[in-house]
Amino acid sequence: MTKIITNIDIAVEEILKGNLVGLPTETVYGLGANALDENAVIKIFEAKERPRFNPVIVHIYDAADTEKYAVDIPDNFYKLVEKFSPGPITYVLKKEYVIPDIVTSGNDSVGLRIPSHKVLREVLRNLNLPVAAPSANMFGKISPTTAKDVLRELNGKVNYILEGGRCKIGIESTVISLIDNEVKILRHGFITKEEIEKVTGNISDNYSDKIISPGQLKSHYAPETPLYPVDNFKTLKNISGKKIGILDFSNYKNKKEIALNLFSDLRKLDDGGYDFIVYEKVSDEGLGAAINDRLKKASSGNLSIINDQLLILK
Ligand code: TXA
Ligand code: MG
Repeated sequence: MTKIITNIDIAVEEILKGNLVGLPTETVYGLGANALDENAVIKIFEAKERPRFNPVIVHIYDAADTEKYAVDIPDNFYKLVEKFSPGPITYVLKKEYVIPDIVTSGNDSVGLRIPSHKVLREVLRNLNLPVAAPSANMFGKISPTTAKDVLRELNGKVNYILEGGRCKIGIESTVISLIDNEVKILRHGFITKEEIEKVTGNISDNYSDKIISPGQLKSHYAPETPLYPVDNFKTLKNISGKKIGILDFSNYKNKKEIALNLFSDLRKLDDGGYDFIVYEKVSDEGLGAAINDRLKKASSGNLSIINDQLLILK
């Protein structure tokens, strides 16, 4: 059975054995394995039931290690690292051959992140190896922000989950591509486009239809209970006979607080026995882009209320 542990040495040994460990990060919990061990990384895909076309982020201790795992590193990388790393940003760079294809889904790029969580940094320092880790949820489900959430997702699928407290950020890292010296956002995250642009100049979202990041998949981060956006909670007053969960952000001070609580609030509501859950979008500026992206992908479609009748538009 799966145990929540606090002993870093046990986690390190388990990874060295080629096994998986649930690991805390500042964003969300990850499901980690030795990134240089193909068989260990295969276990990540199996445990999560994650399709093999979704590349996994590689976590490293120090920005200087980037040169071991990536080539053609542009100046923008060093500028961004100085400002944002260690922290919640993932850099997609051209990969070195040492990174196995299973990690990158056969792409010639690798996503590298230097996390800031103290416990994970201790693991990385002791291991002296890169750690491949996607979020520690079953594929397409809500990302975990506590060790207990991981236990619920992956009980029996890993021996250990390393306790690191509740994640301080609560939403995933921003994934940016620096390939061919262009800066593109592949997935919105805690570091905002506006903040990145201050370092690199104007950048665009990657609107390509070709999915190279599962963050770009249309459905993701989803609760079991259907989730719908509404313009205004008040419009739901007249719907009778339905138990409606309200994902309400009005008590949070700012978008950081909304992001921090987003996945944990969704999990709570998902356990509440509701027919469906509704939310009001936030404004798109700053961290709003990442919050709205997660909400949209977690949604089951759109809800319309016409003459007190509910219409669900997929
Ligand atoms: O905050 C985070 O990023 C968390 C923690 C655990 O570090 N990890 C995370 O991993 O969210 P995951 O697998 O759930 O999402 C990884 C994202 C995906 O959108 C994936 O496609 C993208 O990073 N990614 C990883 N490697 C890539 C690559 N070589 N090219 C393009 N996208 C890549
Ligand atoms: Mg994920």
